[in-house]
Amino acid sequence: MREPKKRRGPASPVMHLVMDPESATPMYRQVYEGLREAILSGRLAQGARLPSSRALAADLGVARNTVLQAFDQLRSEGYLQGRRGGGTRAREVIPDALLTVPRSATRGDAKARQSRNTGTSRGSGTSRISPSASPAAPRLSRRGQSLATTGATLIRAAGPHVPFELGVPAHDAFPRRLWGQLTGRRWRRGDVDLGELDPAGEASLREAIAEYLATARGVRCTAEQVFVVNGAQQALHLIAQLLLDPGDRAWIEEPGYVGARVAFEAAGARLVPVPVDDDGLDVAAGVRLASDARLAYVTPSHQFPLGVVMSASRRLQLLGWARANGAWIVEDDYDSEFRYTGRPLPCMQGLEGEQSDGSPSRVLYVGTFSKTLVSGLRIGYMVVPEELIDAFRATRSTVDRHTPTIYQQVLADFIGEGHYFRHIRHVRNLCAERQAVLVDAAKTHLDGLLRIQADPAGLHLVGWLAPEIRDTEAQRAAMARGIRSWALSGFHLGEAPTRGALVLGYGGFEAREIRKGVEILAEILGRMQSH
Ligand SMILES: Cc1ncc(COP(=O)(O)O)c(C=O)c1O
Repeated sequence: MREPKKRRGPASPVMHLVMDPESATPMYRQVYEGLREAILSGRLAQGARLPSSRALAADLGVARNTVLQAFDQLRSEGYLQGRRGGGTRAREVIPDALLTVPRSATRGDAKARQSRNTGTSRGSGTSRISPSASPAAPRLSRRGQSLATTGATLIRAAGPHVPFELGVPAHDAFPRRLWGQLTGRRWRRGDVDLGELDPAGEASLREAIAEYLATARGVRCTAEQVFVVNGAQQALHLIAQLLLDPGDRAWIEEPGYVGARVAFEAAGARLVPVPVDDDGLDVAAGVRLASDARLAYVTPSHQFPLGVVMSASRRLQLLGWARANGAWIVEDDYDSEFRYTGRPLPCMQGLEGEQSDGSPSRVLYVGTFSKTLVSGLRIGYMVVPEELIDAFRATRSTVDRHTPTIYQQVLADFIGEGHYFRHIRHVRNLCAERQAVLVDAAKTHLDGLLRIQADPAGLHLVGWLAPEIRDTEAQRAAMARGIRSWALSGFHLGEAPTRGALVLGYGGFEAREIRKGVEILAEILGRMQSH
């Protein structure tokens, strides 16, 4: 399969920038950042001609002055050349100074540098930074080197979200005003705890979460077992640090969630990719591969990324293996609120409770507010077996002591006053509509190019490619057009799958963005197929 030829001139495909009118970042700055990123990442070839400010403004739906302002800024910083009013090109040679970040750089600049270093390939698992590549690189510990390379895969791109980025919730539905009112009310009433909290979190929030999980997910726990954490990622990190020794084997789903892979690798675990079929993780295969594993990571309610539901018999098999071998099961219930048809399935943690013969629990349950609210809040939770409560409280204290109090208190109010349930209903309906738009647009434009089927759950879909198209090439070509679609093979630790696929997140994008994204994908894949 050949790479699509890079086109030059006004129709340059790399000009596909996506604006976020809701963002606090001014429009000219969004244009500036998008172009700068395109230049530094090489998507916009050096010397390539940009479209006219008028054409780009029309394309982006912004005022021409907005584009002129961004061009001026980029010109004054040396990224662009050419006069205002004349043709504008990306500079042939970017001054070295622009490729490094001065000490006084702003946060946005530092983020851009990070994304440059890493290729910002959340989920792809392909980018790496090499700590020893530069002569000036600091000397890292062996653990540090491992963290710097594996962790780099999780760093997100700076700038506005673009379709079909994964892990982006319906952020446009976040109740900003209400959240602000609840926060203001706490401060005005002098009702914010200014001291340090229990590392497990604020009592009222832990109670609210325990109650919610019991009713909505069938979790069996007390509020003492609930830990409020900075997103599911922190839960995975704490679990790995506390329960895995370097060299321990850990089952992960194949294909599976890169965030989990990275957390376990950071603890020095040896990962054992266990295949997933239509019934979820193939437990018998796991036993054949590594019966002595210390831990198994699963997403049984909606496997990430394939979307299958783990069957009851597999769940029981997995619980039986864990009990017999003293292994831990990490149940990541990351998007359970987004089930559109049928009754939500109770979780494995509850199933284990029902079956209990009095022996200690083997399941650690992990959840997040990143999907129902926004991932930038960085609030998630885990439910741990009683025997591990103290060890987790101590471990958490070594990291960041606890999640900031004000966020916990406001979230407790948000749940306690009934807003959360209303909000879940709202975003669930919204995301169901967005999925329908994606499926519909795919039917119209992607027939024969990408096979996409509706899914009764989740915030992403898997689109299967024609056999002759490599998913990594499709991902790369889409990226060059400003579309983020993730190659399924990037979620495989072992061999790439026989059939390539693209994983498409839709939850965070409006119907028009989804339709436009599909049209661009259709162009790209159509071209790839005809080559
Ligand atoms: C499988 C899975 N688990 C967990 C998360 C949530 O992570 P966090 O709560 O750290 O934002 C995601 C987000 O993309 C995910 O895909």
